[in-house]
Amino acid sequence: MRTLDVALADRSYPIHIGSGLLGEPGLYARHAAGRRVAVISNPVVASHYLGPVQQALARAGARPVSVLIEDGEQAKTWETLDRVVGAMLAEQLGRDSLIVALGGGVVGDLAGFAAAVYQRGIPFIQVPTTLLAQVDSSVGGKTAVNHARGKNMVGAFHQPLAVIADVACLDTLPDRELRAGIAEVIKHGFILDADFVEWLEANMERLLGRDRDALERAISRSCELKAQVVAADEREAGRRALLNFGHTFGHAIEAGVGYGEWLHGEAVAAGMVMAAELSVRAGTLRAEDAARVAALIGSAGLPVRGPRLAPERYLELMQVDKKAAGGEMRFILLEGLGHATLKGGLDARHVRDSIAACMQ
Ligand code: NAD
Ligand code: GLY
Repeated sequence: MRTLDVALADRSYPIHIGSGLLGEPGLYARHAAGRRVAVISNPVVASHYLGPVQQALARAGARPVSVLIEDGEQAKTWETLDRVVGAMLAEQLGRDSLIVALGGGVVGDLAGFAAAVYQRGIPFIQVPTTLLAQVDSSVGGKTAVNHARGKNMVGAFHQPLAVIADVACLDTLPDRELRAGIAEVIKHGFILDADFVEWLEANMERLLGRDRDALERAISRSCELKAQVVAADEREAGRRALLNFGHTFGHAIEAGVGYGEWLHGEAVAAGMVMAAELSVRAGTLRAEDAARVAALIGSAGLPVRGPRLAPERYLELMQVDKKAAGGEMRFILLEGLGHATLKGGLDARHVRDSIAACMQ
């Protein structure tokens, strides 16, 4: 097991990464002993992992109950949150209770938000079971539900007490979800660590083959990089925005084809290729490095081209992106592999041409 630290003063917390961890009572005991615990999950994840987690919690001296939400992004709503809160109140869980979020990013975001608001806030532990959740959504304290007018439009910053990332969970993850998680792993390399990009280029086959050592190393490095950014800029006043590399184009892709058609990681993958192309046109990245961006994404079996929509439609969808500050579109560009910057004032023609060059 490797343990990393998210350094946030008195709200610092560990990220434990290894195989078989979610059934380890010792990882829960410090936070859960003597407490009532609501394990929030969905039926897919619960069918594999709820039993071991509940047993571990009971052996850690806690009294767990489970609250299941529907599977899928469509469950990340106010209505589901209301049902979760209702179920916890019906169980008479008090302010001294704890939430355990057992699942992918949907469960993690919703359960984290429930923890942020239940009786004015209670603690929670993240037990992420998708690769995307292990390398991204479980770390950093962003919690939210969606609104009909936009994704993640209602939420809170609420850091967990601990993250328990069990690599063995990934054995049951569908291939497509694994690849979507790899997109976020690759993203961390592109924006923050050129050596990690090289390592990914050399080890992509092992990751796709679910080699546990390779996965553990990729998850650890990703979490380390994300933890450094979060520690430096918890509330996204500046540097944390770099984690959104590829997301401005990616959000437009997800919305343009209709949510659910493309997985988030797939849209971010094609979005990163567009952002690299834009970096070349803006003069911050060499064409050969942009080719490496596309090659690595392609080697993970991820899309390197966006769906065919009018570039104007992309622009329209991107205007509503959260990074359009004061009406000006801003983009995260690469300044070489392993370095990123947030830039506004780009030539609109460059943006349009980059989209057109990277469409199916
Ligand atoms: P998800 O939670 O929908 O999980 C994907 C699918 O895999 C689901 O059907 C789920 O039931 C299933 N699943 C989960 N673990 C499994 C396992 N071990 N074996 C088999 N099946 C399993 O999707 P996701 O990609 O994990 O998360 C996407 C969500 O994360 C989005 O809502 C996104 O907004 C959010 N997100 C949040 C942050 C953040 O910082 N909070 C960052 C990135 C993404
Ligand atoms: N997923 C981007 C962030 O956590 O800031």
